[in-house]
Amino acid sequence: MFALTGIGHLVTNDETVGQGKLGVLHDAALVADDAGNVSWVGKQSELASHFDGKPTDVGGRAVIPGFVDSHTHLVFAGDRALEFESRMQGKPYAAGGIKTTMAATRAASDDVLAANVARLASEALASGTTTLEVKSGYGLSVRDEARSLVAAKTATAETTFLGAHVVPPDTNADDYVALVQGEMLDACKGNAKWIDVFCDRGAFDVDQARAILQTGAAAGLGTRIHANQLQQGGGVQLGVELAVASCDHCTHLSQQDIDALSGARATTVATLLPTAELCTRSPFPDARKLIDAGVTVALASDCNPGSSYTSSMPLVIALAVINMGMTCDEALWSATAGGAQALRRSDVGNLRVGSRADLVVLDAQSHIHLAYRPGVQQVRAVIRGGKTVVGSL
Ligand code: NIG
Ligand code: FE
Repeated sequence: MFALTGIGHLVTNDETVGQGKLGVLHDAALVADDAGNVSWVGKQSELASHFDGKPTDVGGRAVIPGFVDSHTHLVFAGDRALEFESRMQGKPYAAGGIKTTMAATRAASDDVLAANVARLASEALASGTTTLEVKSGYGLSVRDEARSLVAAKTATAETTFLGAHVVPPDTNADDYVALVQGEMLDACKGNAKWIDVFCDRGAFDVDQARAILQTGAAAGLGTRIHANQLQQGGGVQLGVELAVASCDHCTHLSQQDIDALSGARATTVATLLPTAELCTRSPFPDARKLIDAGVTVALASDCNPGSSYTSSMPLVIALAVINMGMTCDEALWSATAGGAQALRRSDVGNLRVGSRADLVVLDAQSHIHLAYRPGVQQVRAVIRGGKTVVGSL
């Protein structure tokens, strides 16, 4: 059991205990139990009746829920620095780059894959990410997708089978779609919670994506989709039709897509990945328009070696505010509670009584500083499941 006091600005994401959608409390305290869950939040002046030990004073700093990064591709080997360099000289981004990483991933040992996942998960944790989704998708064979999911599971329970990332070289698309739904799904489903399909130009079409997601759902996996990243298409509307947990990217949307997401706001989240737009010099999605239409929006990093080689949720938040029209409050909600909703979790992404004591102590007075001071390291400490895992207090 522990208590934090001297919290100048506490974001709980619980409207019933504090101001606004972020449920903000000032001059606050928080108590966690021995199981690593929040057992009390409130005004510091009321702490005495809830805790009788020695509290830790955070000196007026802001405390926020740990970030929930609901979209990453951490299982891979090698990098694509040269592809990035040539893109910065004008070469467009294309789905085909995935095949470069596939070759490096297939050639890597299990230990190398797991070490790369651990390195990136620890990098993410250092910037405040306490819940992480991790996809396969660079193996693209039964053996390599299966061992990618084993590597993913070393870092998180939120693992996603993305055998349908692209069709591997020298393979017939129909044969590959059948393989993904058959032998590959069988080999992967034991270590996967979710199934995802990249439904876009150069990847899989709507009919292929529908078949794969339906087969995955029948095998007991939750569904999510990469949709409308490279161009408009039917991916988002397919996601809504199938009631997937999240349609991810949503860079190129029609009004019908926005209407569909709005109607599905309780079921299907639109997960925006602004560092992918940053690193591919693509137009940012119009988050303002989505939120004003009533869409539930999450923010995630898309950390991968091709389109977005960053795990920094503070950077994602800064871009969402500065380039996508989100308010500082909306961006923080989307990077915490929104990400949790995209993973259909209610025990993370907030600091309600009973939720996990996953939180970030910022070297700042409020969460506004995350966008106000882009690129500056402002994480003082990270507590996950009630334990200090980064920094010290
Ligand atoms: O989410 N869009 C598909 N997959 C990744 C990119 C993968 C890559 O380029 O290696 C993404 O951006
Ligand atoms: Fe992705």
